[in-house]
Amino acid sequence: MVHHRKKFYLVATISLAIIVIMISYIERRILPFIPLVKKNLCQGIPADNTITPLKDNRTFIIAPYFDNRKNKMTRVIAIVHHKDVKELYCWFCHPSNDKIHISKAEIDVHSDRFDFPYGATDLHCPEPEDWEPHYVSIHWSPNGSINHLPLFEIKNREPEGSPVEFTVCISTMFGEYNNILQFVQSMEMYRILGVGRVVIYKNSCSPLMEKVLDFYIAEGVVEIIPWPIDSYLKAASRWRYSKDPKDIGYYGQITALNDCIYRNMYKSRYLMLNDMDEIILPIKYANWKTMMQNLQEQHPGAAVFLFENHIFPKTVFTLNDPFNFSFWRVTPGVNILQHIFREPDRKHLVNPWKMIVNPRKVVQTSVHSVLQADGDRVHVPMDVAFVYHCRTPLQPKLSRESLIKDTTLWRYNVTLIRNVSKVLQQIGL
Ligand SMILES: *[C@@H]1O[C@H](CO)[C@@H](O)[C@H](O)[C@H]1NC(C)=O
Ligand SMILES: *[C@@H]1O[C@H](CO)[C@@H](O)[C@H](O)[C@H]1NC(C)=O
Ligand SMILES: *[C@@H]1O[C@H](CO)[C@@H](O)[C@H](O)[C@H]1NC(C)=O
Ligand SMILES: *[C@@H]1O[C@H](CO)[C@@H](O)[C@H](O)[C@H]1NC(C)=O
Ligand SMILES: *[C@@H]1O[C@H](CO)[C@@H](O)[C@H](O)[C@H]1NC(C)=O
Repeated sequence: MVHHRKKFYLVATISLAIIVIMISYIERRILPFIPLVKKNLCQGIPADNTITPLKDNRTFIIAPYFDNRKNKMTRVIAIVHHKDVKELYCWFCHPSNDKIHISKAEIDVHSDRFDFPYGATDLHCPEPEDWEPHYVSIHWSPNGSINHLPLFEIKNREPEGSPVEFTVCISTMFGEYNNILQFVQSMEMYRILGVGRVVIYKNSCSPLMEKVLDFYIAEGVVEIIPWPIDSYLKAASRWRYSKDPKDIGYYGQITALNDCIYRNMYKSRYLMLNDMDEIILPIKYANWKTMMQNLQEQHPGAAVFLFENHIFPKTVFTLNDPFNFSFWRVTPGVNILQHIFREPDRKHLVNPWKMIVNPRKVVQTSVHSVLQADGDRVHVPMDVAFVYHCRTPLQPKLSRESLIKDTTLWRYNVTLIRNVSKVLQQIGL
């Protein structure tokens, strides 16, 4: 009996050893030659709209951007309900990698929310240490399946193309915008001053405006980012909650501006954050390029340049019209060349600022100031440049005599009139 048992153990041990050796041989020699079918875990639904609502109806994703300027992370530009959204998770994946990495997002609602319940928000998603995710989904739980979640490609991982010098970010065109003449004049002024591209977050405009936009898209100047914010939220047309109590301020302007910063971070040397009825007008220099070269030389550490905003009421016209505008009268909209009277500064009130920024140094922006940046802020004096802003008056009771005549814009009259006329003709207006 004892003898038999010993024999059994011996055979069993030898067999086991042979099996172990065979397995390791197969593993080392044979397995590497059998193509491994790696499972693609990026099985969510590719998101291709600018605004993507999540299932909670409280979180709206704009886009994720790789950001390793301070900590290596994916920064997701979003809109969230500041009270209701307390917990979100980032689900990272890569199409040729059988791993999913889930990390908890830090939810950073921007401080400039102006009392609206929804605000521009950064979701800070820590990335996996040892691999580079290409996609991310956002979910309220770390549990469950990625399969039915919207899947976003992470942008800015590889800076591409050669950047232009100046890009104007127009945050939200809304209200069936139809101010054709002022739009074309602003566009031609931007071109004269040296713009590379104009990025417009478009909510709505008139059919005629659509035609004008198509012209500029074909010219390669305008890029349209669809901005259907009012399909998801009640959008205020004012910037403060008390003036228009809706879900989100001014058609989500602040979120659009922040998206514009990250979207163009490596596509443009400078970004100008202003509205369509505003033009940053150099006084001391002929164009934006020489202006910024000089300003940047004087302030090497500057990341943000602020320009004083001055109102030129569209209700106050020049008395003696030096130009012959008869051929523009059929075009709807304001003719800025007829508005060269500006409102004086108000006591106890500072004029708001508009900005030219180096996007690679900006972390978070608001409309009239940058909230977080790695660099100095420079207030550009009025004799160097200012913002020409032609709109309804802020001080409607002032008489013409109390306004200040300022014909800086007229310096460009010859080129501006010629170029605007040419464009209107080409569009068929
Ligand atoms: C989200 O909104 C949709 C459409 O308005 C509604 O059917 C759904 O019940 C909402 N979901 C939640 C979680 O509130
Ligand atoms: C996720 O699952 C774990 C383990 O089952 C559980 O402890 C945790 O509460 C779940 N988290 C959420 C947010 O559902
Ligand atoms: C404006 O017109 C001038 C003179 O006709 C022309 O040289 C220039 O290219 C035009 N500028 C733009 C930006 O189209
Ligand atoms: C103004 O322009 C129109 C159209 O080009 C022309 O018919 C008219 O004579 C011009 N008027 C003056 C005063 O130059
Ligand atoms: C129009 O521009 C020209 C050339 O830049 C200038 O000489 C002229 O004074 C301007 N016209 C007015 C009315 O300012």
